Amino acid sequence: MKKYDISIIKGDGIGPEIVDEAIKVLDAVSYSCGFSLEYKEYLMGGIAIDVTGVPLPDETVEGVLNSDACLFGAIGGEKWDTLPRDLRPETGLLNFREKMGVYANLRPAIIYDELVNASTLKPEVIEGVDIMVVRELIGGIYFGKPRANDGETAYNTMVYTKPEIVRIGKKAFELAMKRNKRLCSVDKANVLEVSQLWRDTMEEISKDYPEVQLSHMYVDNAAMQLVRNPKQFDVIVTGNIFGDILSDTASMVVGSIGLLPSASTGDKTAIYEPIHGSAPDIAGQGIANPIATIESAGMMLRYSLGEIEAADKIDTAIKKALKDGFRTKDLAAFDAKEVVTTSEMGDIIANNINK
Ligand code: NAI
Ligand code: MG
Repeated sequence: MKKYDISIIKGDGIGPEIVDEAIKVLDAVSYSCGFSLEYKEYLMGGIAIDVTGVPLPDETVEGVLNSDACLFGAIGGEKWDTLPRDLRPETGLLNFREKMGVYANLRPAIIYDELVNASTLKPEVIEGVDIMVVRELIGGIYFGKPRANDGETAYNTMVYTKPEIVRIGKKAFELAMKRNKRLCSVDKANVLEVSQLWRDTMEEISKDYPEVQLSHMYVDNAAMQLVRNPKQFDVIVTGNIFGDILSDTASMVVGSIGLLPSASTGDKTAIYEPIHGSAPDIAGQGIANPIATIESAGMMLRYSLGEIEAADKIDTAIKKALKDGFRTKDLAAFDAKEVVTTSEMGDIIANNINK
């Protein structure tokens, strides 16, 4: 039997609650598809500070590097907000991403038919939306040097090297190959040199992927098109700052923050996590929506382990739970037949795996 080593970081707040539900579903689907998952738990964030004194223990970095994939909950909370910046949970997370070299952030925005009313956009505009935003995560203006602010003048530098563009570009083309083979590269090439290099490089890479239809769009237009007609997009690839903004826009298309998974991938171990935080306001009440984390576990099976059938089963199981009218509290207003707890939602989805 195939066996995979999975590193688990539950974190703080609702982190442990939602990760437990994802593990429930992973256990059901691995059993059903005939492979086994071995979990090892590591500390990070506030809990790591409490136990070890630092937000990112070396043991965590090492353990995750030695695993096939990492499932991550969320970190942070008021208790640690007054610590010096380098000791804060959030600093641990940024260091973690950098150490894992996760240059590509994948954020799918898929609308579940049952939840079209949960979006602020009209049903006919969003029905059937299935977009993958591929954002460059460890380069561009957020990391570029020089940067400074002397109180009179401030500046940042938007910089991309060709190898940085090539690695994110290839990732996006590979993803497009597995989907509907349409890739839209978003830039500001009419104004920025760095965008011109980005665009030229995407054109060059496209020669290796003749089946993928590559198009280019300026970022201002892309922001408008995402809310005007999101269905026109399949895969979007873009730099760090444009991707930051556009992926949030794309996420609002689908309704609740509790539904959105993500993958941060590079050349080492990939990290799979919901896009939301540790939600301290609802922690411990059994009302957090576990779907974003369960869907993140599905992405882990699909992209890191290549267990496509299992990933598809998770998607189907989530859709069935929603179709049957089960809703956690955040979605209770949208066609709910029954409002369920975090753990009940996990049970329902896990049970659906074999239906
Ligand atoms: P948040 O995403 O934790 O919560 C925002 C709002 O959405 C809250 O009202 C929360 O109750 C709700 N929410 C979030 N996830 C939900 C779910 N699964 N089901 C139902 N409702 C959900 O963002 P916030 O409040 O700004 O940050 C809280 C803490 O999380 C902070 O310490 C922050 O630094 C940390 N954080 C951690 C992240 C991570 O670990 N990747 C990402 C973002 C924030
Ligand atoms: Mg952001």
